[in-house]
Amino acid sequence: MAENDLSIEEIENLSYYDFMGYLEVPFFQIGGLTSTERLGELCQIDEVKKVLVVGCGTGFNACYLAKKFGCWLVGVDVAEEAIKKAKERAERENIQDRVEFRVGDAYDLPFEAATFDVVITQFVSQFLEMKRAFKEFTRVLKKGGCIGINEMFKDKDMPPKVAEELLEAEQIIGDITQLPFTIHTSEEWKEWLENTGFKGVEIHENRELMSLKEFPLLIKEIGGSGKLFKLMVRIMKYALLSKVIRNRFKKLSKAKRVLVGAPIIKSATSQHVGYILGVGKKESHK
Ligand SMILES: C[S@@+](CC[C@H](N)C(=O)[O-])C[C@H]1O[C@@H](n2cnc3c(N)ncnc32)[C@H](O)[C@@H]1O
Repeated sequence: MAENDLSIEEIENLSYYDFMGYLEVPFFQIGGLTSTERLGELCQIDEVKKVLVVGCGTGFNACYLAKKFGCWLVGVDVAEEAIKKAKERAERENIQDRVEFRVGDAYDLPFEAATFDVVITQFVSQFLEMKRAFKEFTRVLKKGGCIGINEMFKDKDMPPKVAEELLEAEQIIGDITQLPFTIHTSEEWKEWLENTGFKGVEIHENRELMSLKEFPLLIKEIGGSGKLFKLMVRIMKYALLSKVIRNRFKKLSKAKRVLVGAPIIKSATSQHVGYILGVGKKESHK
């Protein structure tokens, strides 16, 4: 879709992730492509595996996984604008023969039972009602198939002031996305996976954010520095044109400052959060 296909009013009325999709914001997870690649390794993705990426957004991480591991991949997301951009990305990267994107809801996945070897979420499960979503992920996994999650975690214990700030940041993100955003502890993530019935659950905690060393790869995957510059210009343009959009970005940067801090100065809260890579297997006899 061309940039000027929607009016400012229409853009203001888009849901948060449709808006991000419209802008073609590439990705959201704090561990960068390193975390995506590591998750692919933990899930033992290879050329014969059929992978489902739930909440794929504009397809940035999904296409990276498909290229890196040579797998078959389907990405679904509820945000139609994001799926349009994901389809364009797959075509641009010439991988549309083994990568498909479609609109789909994590709670009601448009697939038969036991379709996939691997189901992945990256910064998505933390926005979902876990019980309903994980039941659905299990349904579409084959026996012995692997679930892989890349999501934020928080420390079990932290000073009350920090816990208060974290809660406020969670509420801001929940408010702008209109989704039940919750940061769980590592122990809770483990419990979720085990209670859903996954076996051999492993949770790997990471506190280091995306490294600056990853920038060249990131810019290459985004489509070059020209594309990144255009994205920044579009964000500035919409923020200047619309108070609604400006407020969205203001709220978002406040939550981001609390959750991940600034590049050099880590906020007190950001020292108590990070991301987990979690994996588990669906039982092979069920
Ligand atoms: C933080 S973004 C992460 C996007 C992508 N995984 C990435 O790393 O770039 C969360 C995504 O989850 C999607 N989402 C939220 N609820 C969903 C649902 N019920 N079913 C499918 N996708 C959903 C949103 O539309 C959004 O694209």
